[in-house]
Amino acid sequence: MDRSFALELVRVTEAAAISSAQWMGRGNEEEADRAAVEAMRHTLNTISFDGTVVIGEGERDEAPMLFIGERVGQGEPHPKVDVALDPLEGTTICARGDTNALACIAIANRGCFLHAPDTYMQKIAVGPGLKDAIDIRKSPTENLKNIAKVKQCPLEKITVIILDRPRHTDLISEVRSTGARIMLIRDGDVSAAISTCYPRSGVDVLMGIGGAPEGVLAAAALRCKNGYMEGILKPRNDLEMERAKHMGIADIHRVWRLEDLASGPVMFCATGVTTGALLEGVRFTKEGAMTHSIVMRSQTGTIREVRATHYFDKKPYY
Ligand code: FBP
Repeated sequence: MDRSFALELVRVTEAAAISSAQWMGRGNEEEADRAAVEAMRHTLNTISFDGTVVIGEGERDEAPMLFIGERVGQGEPHPKVDVALDPLEGTTICARGDTNALACIAIANRGCFLHAPDTYMQKIAVGPGLKDAIDIRKSPTENLKNIAKVKQCPLEKITVIILDRPRHTDLISEVRSTGARIMLIRDGDVSAAISTCYPRSGVDVLMGIGGAPEGVLAAAALRCKNGYMEGILKPRNDLEMERAKHMGIADIHRVWRLEDLASGPVMFCATGVTTGALLEGVRFTKEGAMTHSIVMRSQTGTIREVRATHYFDKKPYY
């Protein structure tokens, strides 16, 4: 895959982040999301690839733009890629002005991302060196004991990041009973999964149920950072079960390992919308805005942090 795409992707997430950040704290999730989607799509279509959205804003009938199957980029004869994207990961976060909202995108060769249905996924994600310590089929207690053993530290020093949801009541009680520490987050399990790869975040493992599409995006980033994750789809009703079948999922109970979620060479890019553990949020200045992004390639493992200054009189944003 052409490595120059990596820097093109930064422009895409920067545009989405700047546009949605203008809606930060205004309590309007829809407008924040719309702004991110429009800006991301506009910038994506300037890239010299023939992209197909496989993880996007939803099916064509429910998403006017960046829907699953939408072609993006300059089209043929440019290289064909599959695109997984979330123009605003954490719409509620952005609308509240809370931490950790980001714009993110990943690309891979055709057929290399799981075409995840828009349902839930049970996930466990860890940073480098802990692949053999986790098994999603085992209990949280067993996984935490193994992580502590591999890290050679007491369980009380392990921190688990979990979405704060009623569905996680039992998980939270079990984790607490092991003595491990918990970081409860309101939203944003893509950045939560990635944070397991950054010692400065203080997070060792992500556990719990979040969006399945977000699982694929997190997997792309973890591939680049030498992290690891596993997931099991968790449809909430018959409709979601049908949707999964329609998207080619033969065994709903299957464990999806990292390489099943995102295989081959992948690139992942994210720009902070609001400040969080990984990225600083968009800061508006008199002339324009400043952004902070990360862009990663699985082939080389190179992680670039890009701090950019944008001048709106030279390049307006949507
Ligand atoms: P959105 O940006 O689409 O709102 O997703 C935010 C998020 O917190 C994801 O990070 C997570 O995977 C999912 O929502 C969890 O879903 P729910 O809010 O239904 O529990």
